[in-house]
Amino acid sequence: MTISSSSASMELRTTGQQLHRRSWAEPWKIKMVEPITLTTEKQRTAALSEAGYNTFLLRSEDVYIDLLTDSGTSAMSDWQWAGMMLGDEAYAGSKNFYHLEETVRRHYGYKHLIPVHQGRGAEHILSQIMIRPGDTVPGNMYFTTTRFHQEHAGGQFVDVVIEDGHDLASLHPFKGNVDLDKLEHVLKTAKRVPYISLAATVNMAGGQPVSMANVRSVREICARHGVPVMLDATRAVENAWFIKCREAGYADKSCAEILLEFCSYTDGCTMSGKKDPLVNIGGWLSLNDDTLAEEARNMVVVYEGLHTYGGMAGRDMEAMARGIEESVQDDHMRARIGQVEYLGGLLHSAGVPIVLPIGGHAVYLDARRFYPDMSQDDFPAQTLAAEIYLDSGVRAMERGIVSAGRDSKTGRHHYPKLELVRLTIPRRVYTQAHMDVVAESVEAVFLQPKKPCGLRMVYEPKYLRFFQARFERLGP
Ligand code: F0G
Repeated sequence: MTISSSSASMELRTTGQQLHRRSWAEPWKIKMVEPITLTTEKQRTAALSEAGYNTFLLRSEDVYIDLLTDSGTSAMSDWQWAGMMLGDEAYAGSKNFYHLEETVRRHYGYKHLIPVHQGRGAEHILSQIMIRPGDTVPGNMYFTTTRFHQEHAGGQFVDVVIEDGHDLASLHPFKGNVDLDKLEHVLKTAKRVPYISLAATVNMAGGQPVSMANVRSVREICARHGVPVMLDATRAVENAWFIKCREAGYADKSCAEILLEFCSYTDGCTMSGKKDPLVNIGGWLSLNDDTLAEEARNMVVVYEGLHTYGGMAGRDMEAMARGIEESVQDDHMRARIGQVEYLGGLLHSAGVPIVLPIGGHAVYLDARRFYPDMSQDDFPAQTLAAEIYLDSGVRAMERGIVSAGRDSKTGRHHYPKLELVRLTIPRRVYTQAHMDVVAESVEAVFLQPKKPCGLRMVYEPKYLRFFQARFERLGP
């Protein structure tokens, strides 16, 4: 080798290393593809009208880039698919269950694992075994299904997230944090608090994380009051990545180490395996307390399936065990969050109003600033999601007044401060070019000279209305 070619290769290597440090490039390459097609404006207009202006009711065939949710939409790896072939479909005692149990213990640290078909299955069981009518359940902002199950069990949800969590202008690095004074106040004044429901990251606040210092304090306060801390661990690995990047003392720790420490301050968790754990279906409930775990096992057989499968096939449990292993890798998380930040960065630099800091699983658009003259009763975020679909076939989700639902006692709408549209990025599915298309479309909708007038709800389901509600256009 000549000196010049050796120095050229050195230069390349150096560039490569710098790239690795600076870039979020994915630690994988694509082996199989699924075709998607761009529809015409005429087709989209017809499809949206048939779907009652609700993006949940669109057929996925009519969608070009699907940013409805990151739930169950991940691409699995070849190692996960290989694991699917090793499914032990025994009714009882499947070896994949034991693999999953061991993996959850190693990475999340909890003693007992009760498998369920997805996150809300775990929320249902946890709420039924712990909440009594009249109880108060504090939480760092609500999540739709979580609050539903708490209220369905007779509890009342009380929001104890810090004020910054509701403030779109705030750049607080941990907008998901619990307000410790609010928590203390609830614990002192409520008749009975069965547990605090702590979500990391906080979906409805914009995918915002909770700091390690905060969970430690929550733990300390709750321990003084004899109240357990139950984690919604759905996106806890994404939370761990933010701690690594933003909290002093954690830069040199791995995501896996941070996750384990975070969970150690909690007494159990509900989990939607459809997010962090990189699978299309599945979930679990974890508990450290033996008596509670026994009660949960009694319930899981009634609602989900035997306590060693809980609604999942053996192959699903294997894919999830392997997905957990992949999800806690720093390189995976760097690319995952990096892609979300890439899209957020494009929009922010184009002047489109988004929630800052950019969250873990999605970029959230501030619908009120798209349509400053529209009343919240005319569903600005629902309208914006519809307009984005019409423009480009990109499917987004409303996270505003429709998602917030009604007060179960008064029947009045909840009026959330945040009226958002979520562009949710599935894991390992879309490319940087897809993100460019999304940014172009959202910017075009933001700059539309003629603004829509909003929507009128013409069908409202009784529970979790955002999934199936139907709307009609107001105005011309
Ligand atoms: N908790 C959080 C924070 C969630 O985001 C979800 C689901 C659940 C619990 C319920 O889990 O869907 O498996 O029953 N979120 C999805 C979303 C639906 O699009 O954000 P699940």
